[in-house]
Amino acid sequence: MEINNNTIIKDNDPKIRDKSFVVSLPLMQEDRELMEDMLRYVKESTIPEIAEAKNLRPAVGISAIQVGVPKQLTAIVCTDIDKNGNEVHYEYALVNPKIISYSVQKAYLEGGEGCLSVESVHEGFVPRHARVKVEAYDMLQNKTITIRAHGYLAIVLQHEIDHFSGVLFYDTINKENPFEPIPGAQVI
Ligand code: CO
Repeated sequence: MEINNNTIIKDNDPKIRDKSFVVSLPLMQEDRELMEDMLRYVKESTIPEIAEAKNLRPAVGISAIQVGVPKQLTAIVCTDIDKNGNEVHYEYALVNPKIISYSVQKAYLEGGEGCLSVESVHEGFVPRHARVKVEAYDMLQNKTITIRAHGYLAIVLQHEIDHFSGVLFYDTINKENPFEPIPGAQVI
């Protein structure tokens, strides 16, 4: 499947609100290929020359519903800084990722969030859990894994998993006061 800014479903299409189904394992060939296409999209989207040539908007993650396939598949490629100041690179091709526990403490991105399916600007803080434990089958490691995520990765995982229930990042922005501080929240 050719994934680019023209083929990605936007939030003016009601399909973006559809629920995504659990995917059966072992993966069918079509699911495997879709995941590979999604992973390729995310990787190429941050390489300016390729992104421009192929009409890709930069992204750190994409979920299958964004290309019209209601299946619990998401590809994530992102970089974060650990507590020692070192860069950590994350790359996942997750099947049926599920948040199995989360912190009471909240976190949000200071600059707000964005989404390949959202073209208009929605400013404001998106409340997330500061830490999440996610269980998933990872197609890159070919096994079921548990991800203990905090910081940026935790935000990205929650954003992508929200797509499975048709939730978009701006749904939870405080409408009256988008930049109202979230008590006790970690600012990322
Ligand atoms: Co999104």
